[in-house]
Formats: sequence, C-alpha cells, structure tokens
Amino acid sequence: MSDTREFDLVIWGASGFTGRLVAEYLFEKYGVNQELKWAMAGRNAEKLEKVRAEVADSSVPLIIADSLDEASLGEMASKTKVICTTVGPYGKYGSKLVDACVAHKTHYCDLAGEVLFIRESVDKHHEQAKADGTKIVHSCGYDSIPSDMGVYFIQKEAKASKGSPAKAIKMRVKDSSGSLSGGTYASMMDTMEQAAKDQSLFFKLINPYGLNPEGKQSGPDKADLREVLFEEETQSWIYPFIMASINTRIVRRSHALIDFAYGEDFEYSEANMAGEGDEGKAKAMKEAGIMAAIMARPGTPQQEAMAKRMPKPGEGPSKEQREAGYYDWRFFITHDDGTKSVAKVTGDRDPGYGSTSKMLAECGVCLAKDQTPDTAGVLTPSTAMGDLLLGRLIANAGLTFSIEE
Ligand SMILES: NC(=O)c1ccc[n+]([C@@H]2O[C@H](COP(=O)([O-])OP(=O)(O)OC[C@H]3O[C@@H](n4cnc5c(N)ncnc54)[C@H](OP(=O)(O)O)[C@@H]3O)[C@@H](O)[C@H]2O)c1
Repeated sequence: MSDTREFDLVIWGASGFTGRLVAEYLFEKYGVNQELKWAMAGRNAEKLEKVRAEVADSSVPLIIADSLDEASLGEMASKTKVICTTVGPYGKYGSKLVDACVAHKTHYCDLAGEVLFIRESVDKHHEQAKADGTKIVHSCGYDSIPSDMGVYFIQKEAKASKGSPAKAIKMRVKDSSGSLSGGTYASMMDTMEQAAKDQSLFFKLINPYGLNPEGKQSGPDKADLREVLFEEETQSWIYPFIMASINTRIVRRSHALIDFAYGEDFEYSEANMAGEGDEGKAKAMKEAGIMAAIMARPGTPQQEAMAKRMPKPGEGPSKEQREAGYYDWRFFITHDDGTKSVAKVTGDRDPGYGSTSKMLAECGVCLAKDQTPDTAGVLTPSTAMGDLLLGRLIANAGLTFSIEE
C-alpha cells in the first residue's frame, strides 16, 4: 500500500455509541497528527462536530461518508491505510464499505458479530483481497477477540511447553459485568429477521463451521449449547453464551486459514459457567431464561415486549458502568498427551464498549503501523495480526492472557 495516503486510520461511525469511544481512546492514547494520523468519519457533519468537541479537539479532521453514497465511501477509503468501522447493523449498512476497501486496497476492521454479513464478505472478497494484499478483518471487539486471541495464545503456549497443540478447548465465561447498547441489539435483531425470512440463511447461521472456506466446513464440533446442564470437567452448571454463535465460527475460521494446524479433530466450544450446587443451577436457569427472552423470535409478543425495554441505537451503558465492568474467562484445555490445564483471559472494562473500543482501536493501529504477518484476504484477528495484536492488547487494551494450572 502507498505510504502517501493522508491518514493511517479513519474511524467511521464516530458519532455512534461505540465509535465515539474509539475516537476518545485514539485521542487520549495517540494524540493528533503525531505518530498516528487519524480522522473521525460519519454521515452527519453537525453530529460529528458535536462529538469531536466532546471527546477530542478541532485538530482532528472530519470526513463525511454515508453508506447510501458509494462515491463518499470510495473517497474515504482512498485517503487512508485503514478504516475501523462501527456503522451497524453491518448487514444493513456495512457491505458497500467493504467493497470500497477492497477496491482501494485499504485494510479494514469492524465489530461485526453478524455471521451472515461476514459469510457474504468472505464469498465476495476473500480471493481479491488475498491477491491484492488487503486485510479485511471482522469481529475485532468482544466478539471475537478474547476467543480468537485466547486460542491463539493457548496454542502457542501448548506448542512451547508440550511440543504439540492442544486437542480440545472449552471456553467458559466465569464472570462478567456489562450490558448491551441499542446498536448491538439492533444488529442481533437484524440477523434474526434475515434468518426468519430465508431458511437457507438460517442453516448458514447454525452451521458450526459456517465461516470456513467452502469444502472445509466439517469437523467434530456440534451445535452451540442450547440448554442448562452440569459439566463434570468444569464442575459447574453451564448455560448458553450469547456470543458463542459468532466466536466459535471465528475461532474455526482462524483454524481453517492456518490449514488446520491444531489437527482436523481439534474441538472448540463456548458456554457460561454458573457454579456448583442448587445455587449454580438456579443461576444458570435464570440467566438462560433472560437470554431466551432477549433472543425471542422477531415479531412475537415476547420480542416486542423486550424491544421496548432495550436501549435505542446511540444509547448504551454509562461511563460509570463501563469503568466498573470486566470479564473473566477460563479455557479448559485437553492436551495431545491427555493432560489438562486451564488458561485465563480477562478484560478491565465492560466487555461490549469500554473494552471493545480499545480492542478495535488497537486493531486499527496494528494494521496501520505494524509489520503484520504476510497474510491477506477476509481474515480473523489472529490470522491478520498474530503476536503483534497480542502484544498491543496486553500493553494497551487492558487484556490479560495467562496459563493458570
Ligand atoms: N463485536 C462487539 O463486541 C460489539 C460491541 C459493540 C458494538 N458492536 C456493533 O457495533 C455496531 C455499532 O454499535 P453502536 O452501539 O455503536 O451503534 P449506534 O450507536 O447505533 O451507532 C451506529 C453508527 O452508525 C451510523 N450510521 C447509521 N446509518 C448510517 C449510514 N447510512 N451511513 C453512515 N453511518 C451510518 C450512525 O450515525 P449517526 O450517529 O449519524 O446516526 C452511528 O454513528 C453494531 O453493529 C453493534 O452490534 C459490536
């Protein structure tokens, strides 16, 4: 890519709930026109100026680009090495920007947790982006960095300590504190509405290997957990994890993109842990019920009632809630020689926004500034950025990765 581009990075969607947090982080961490040349972008100049005054200062350049105006997207993509986008639902507003980034050979990263949008991006763009050396990287937030980079970290450690990669990893959320934004809820509903209208999309959504390359969509993993049960290995009641439907697909795509280096029988799953005994069971049942209500089928009275209680686009958790938030994940590992160990991944802010905004910003900076691995196409965080991203997440984004036992 030419070094003559005006910007290293543009954050598009900077007037939205998550985009403004990314802009705030970039301003605080990297300043303006220093090591990193960056700009804020959005569709509405007035709103963008207002947000800029709140989180940065007037020296941050602004770019106006609307998803309905392809020329504006092309112009934005041509000016920068990387675009970070928080304009969602991605299935509704995102695909033209990916087209523009591939056409202008501009690296791209987003927060998409939408399997159908990512599948379309893979089918449409992987080969061209690969040929051009462009990195298109989806799911650079809570979905799916802790999962994807957690497995990447564990397999590196397993190869170093055991001489071979782990055979199976179960990610279990031990604890977390955070809540949804209106934009995330709108994105979840958008995916469910699409799948409700078209059965072929529904099957794509439930395929555990649905983001793998065509012809490489089989393996030992089954559907995501859909019930409450007691798990001997973790000695805990477990219940479905809402993000498993995207995270597991990203981890499996990463594995496919490295030619199944952990073995074609490698297994991966995700769930929430609720603890032991009657208390654990009661918590698992209660939380599973709340999740089922949030995910109620679009158009049903249950979903309509839930939608009224959910935040609207642009709304989300307060600064106090974001700063008090955190997550604490455990990865239960089975090694090639049959031995077991446990790894831990944590984040120091609420998962969806405080931590996510730092992760997305660091992905953008990594793509713009670091000598990333020689990979290209529609990638995953680990296959696009590997060790360089791991280092940035630990040094700058408040994540920890460790082997516990
Ligand atoms: N993966 C994760 O962990 C994670 C975490 C957080 C969020 N997300 C995803 O990130 C996305 C954003 O979430 P959010 O809560 O920040 O949403 P939001 O507050 O509703 O922000 C959406 C942004 O998109 C912009 N936008 C809407 N239509 C547009 C168009 N036609 N052209 C240009 N810009 C347009 C909005 O601009 P205006 O300000 O002008 O309305 C706003 O800046 C969602 O898809 C959400 O699911 C993912």
